[in-house]
Amino acid sequence: MVSVASLPYSTTDWQLGYRSLSQEYDYWITEIEGRIPAGLRGTLFRNGPGKLEAGSQRYGHPFDGDGMVCAITFIDGRVHFRNRFVRTPEFEAEEKAGRVLYRGVFGTQKPGGWWANFLDLRFKNPANTNVIYQGGKLLALWEASAPYRLNPATLATEGSETFAGALAPNQPFTAHPRRDPATGDLMAFGVQTGPSSTLLFYRVDAQGRLVEKRDYRLPGFAFLHDFVWTPRYWIFFQNPVAFNPLPYMLGLQPAGTCLTLKKGEPTRIWLFPQQGEPLQLQTEPGFVFHFVNGYEVGDQVVVDAVLYEAYPALEPGADYLQIDFAQVPAGKLWRFELDPKAGKVKRELLLDRSVEFPAIHPARMGGSHRYIYIGATHAPGPNAPLQAILKLDTTTGRSEQYSFAPRGFVGEPVFIPDPEDAAEEAGWIVTVVFDAASQRSQVVILDASDLAAGPVARIPLRHHIPYGLHGSFTPQTWVEAR
Ligand code: CO
Repeated sequence: MVSVASLPYSTTDWQLGYRSLSQEYDYWITEIEGRIPAGLRGTLFRNGPGKLEAGSQRYGHPFDGDGMVCAITFIDGRVHFRNRFVRTPEFEAEEKAGRVLYRGVFGTQKPGGWWANFLDLRFKNPANTNVIYQGGKLLALWEASAPYRLNPATLATEGSETFAGALAPNQPFTAHPRRDPATGDLMAFGVQTGPSSTLLFYRVDAQGRLVEKRDYRLPGFAFLHDFVWTPRYWIFFQNPVAFNPLPYMLGLQPAGTCLTLKKGEPTRIWLFPQQGEPLQLQTEPGFVFHFVNGYEVGDQVVVDAVLYEAYPALEPGADYLQIDFAQVPAGKLWRFELDPKAGKVKRELLLDRSVEFPAIHPARMGGSHRYIYIGATHAPGPNAPLQAILKLDTTTGRSEQYSFAPRGFVGEPVFIPDPEDAAEEAGWIVTVVFDAASQRSQVVILDASDLAAGPVARIPLRHHIPYGLHGSFTPQTWVEAR
């Protein structure tokens, strides 16, 4: 048992990070603590739910919140901040009506009980999960529908991205594409699921054109949030989750609460080679949202992932702000060694503590990585909010961290390479930290080669940013330095 006094955080502090940010800003940050590294130049785009209610009704789950994209520009030692909502037609309609009009996938029901939700299978695309710049296009991503294109300079919403008609409107497109560092091509996928599933593969080239589209049949229901790309394979973990659509169709429960982990069934690992039929391997049941990376070693493939041994089920009607973290299954870092020839999978726990949001040096994508950067709880032990950034050396097993506890709560770390030095540790880890003491957020820069030394710069914003999801960096800038 852990006594409340020994928790490294206060629940009230944590809850403060889940308030909407209704205003849109555009300003230079003037009060920087520390120094912006000379080589750090470019734009960090971040996405996440910026608005957590419509009118007086709070969404049932933050994942249903409306996507708000932030652009943090580093240029000549200065930092500029801008945020804009992704103005989807659903966002505009709910803004105008001042109330919830659509069901959310994770926890939001329209008001009026089951009758109002009965057989209403329309949901909104909140465009809130990730944002990536590829070939002149800034894309806000949400996995169950098509990307939204934004103007990278103003963050104004330009519309649904179909890649010149190659993507049907509302066609699923993952929030976790992976970029081939050799070609600059972006690999992505989409899943159309039901009793059996269709897996769509997309390749978007460095000019932003969709140049390849393939599809495969997958037996059974498939909830695939992320994947692994190596030069030879596209790899998916089909977790043994079952979807019971009845309560959703009848309007009793949001879709995200209708998932369960099937007892005694394995996780199916699918390896799709560039040509030919997919190979299937099996491993112990578990659930993976995010992969770190994967790479080939001879005929074998190493995959690092954050694995939940139980599905973190959503209770219908539960208030996410009242969550008891100690009762939520923890995601931990695991290594899977896949041997397609022998049909075998070996797995090993890399880190026995609660972590999420992994990152590596982007030039290592699809090739071998030594260092993993990841959000972590303040200390090993019971599950808790992420308050630290941890670095794991997978060669020595040594880890180090910098913690923002007790009043700081971290988001996803993003690795920004040092343009002057190709070494795997050369660069900066940038994350957004919610500081409950000031009730504002800070952009924090850590030296990737000396993480435990703490921030080289803290860049306090004038306001908070509600806890975000994913983002990415591009060396390009659109703000004029003054
Ligand atoms: Co994700």
